[in-house]
Amino acid sequence: MKQILITGGAGYIGSHTAVALVNAGFEPIIIDNFSNSNKNVLQGLEAILSKPVKYYEGDCNDRKMMEKIFKENDLQGVIHFAASKAVGESTQIPLTYYSNNINSLIILLETMKEFGVKDIVFSSSCTVYGQPDELPVKETTPRKDAESPYGNTKKICEDILTDHIKSGAEARVIALRYFNPIGAHPSSKIGELPLGVPANLVPFVTQTGAGIREKITVFGDDYNTPDGTCIRDYIHVMDLADAHVKSIEYLADKKNNFFDLFNVGTGNGNSVMEVIKAFEKVSGKPLNYEIGARRAGDIEKVWANTDKVSSVLGWSPKYGLEDALKDAWNWQLHLGKEKV
Ligand SMILES: NC(=O)c1ccc[n+]([C@@H]2O[C@H](COP(=O)([O-])OP(=O)(O)OC[C@H]3O[C@@H](n4cnc5c(N)ncnc54)[C@H](O)[C@@H]3O)[C@@H](O)[C@H]2O)c1
Repeated sequence: MKQILITGGAGYIGSHTAVALVNAGFEPIIIDNFSNSNKNVLQGLEAILSKPVKYYEGDCNDRKMMEKIFKENDLQGVIHFAASKAVGESTQIPLTYYSNNINSLIILLETMKEFGVKDIVFSSSCTVYGQPDELPVKETTPRKDAESPYGNTKKICEDILTDHIKSGAEARVIALRYFNPIGAHPSSKIGELPLGVPANLVPFVTQTGAGIREKITVFGDDYNTPDGTCIRDYIHVMDLADAHVKSIEYLADKKNNFFDLFNVGTGNGNSVMEVIKAFEKVSGKPLNYEIGARRAGDIEKVWANTDKVSSVLGWSPKYGLEDALKDAWNWQLHLGKEKV
């Protein structure tokens, strides 16, 4: 079985990608320092897959640990999820974000070079587009100045990857620009585990539905959108996981020195109010919400043009917004009133 290293594999997207990789015949190997995840995820994975997933508890910035993993396994490629990802926090501790997100990529690329592992799929984000001048946003749409140190780390990491390829490196790279991943594995055995107060809409919605939060504040209803609330492209995390499998498969027969990047979204935008209404429909629960002021740094509207990912990688989403919200709600019911 072809082994794929998943950095940050105990995290939200990484754990779902581990399932998708096994289903496609790969063996995932996880490294995670559990700075933003819980070891219970490994039990959830074992329950879904009926076998344990090999993992290393360690930090991607620890070169010795990375070398040990590359030595002990016969890796075909790497999917690099490990990063610090809270936009707000990144404005308070930018150096931690630059250090973690950028150093880990550099050490990873150097270790890959040392061990002759060529293929890497990198977690980028639609945040690199800022508020794009055209919608739906294409991969060729110019990137904007980052709104946060977190967003800047994604831009810088994309640049590091392109410079690495331009230098003639024997590497094959895909950067995936995720839109807004939501939902959980349909088994409800793994899902999103935000630590503390969720910064993202859907965990806040499900926690409010479960009575963990008293109410949800909608940040502004005076945007230039049909109902005045912000619009995002919400993608089911299992669809996003599949895009990684497609990417790893696609890289396998490419020549050295290959780089490409893809939007991964549904191609549809939904407003905050549409998400709330869809949640009420799938859960059968009225949601306690209030309209509040705009939140600094929020983009008004963004959704993906998915022509490239569908024509080149042959990927398209299987799930819709209601499916994703249903899975997110079932996951919340599984967690109960537990605050993570
Ligand atoms: N979730 C989103 O909305 C979203 C959107 C766009 C891009 N991304 C990117 O996708 C990737 C995965 O996101 P996620 O939502 O799964 O986040 P997550 O926090 O759930 O997962 C990241 C995992 O990486 C681990 N980690 C962090 N730094 C590490 C290090 N130095 N060494 C080892 N492990 C480390 C954390 O413990 C965590 O388990 C991140 O790079 C993130 O920036 C996420």
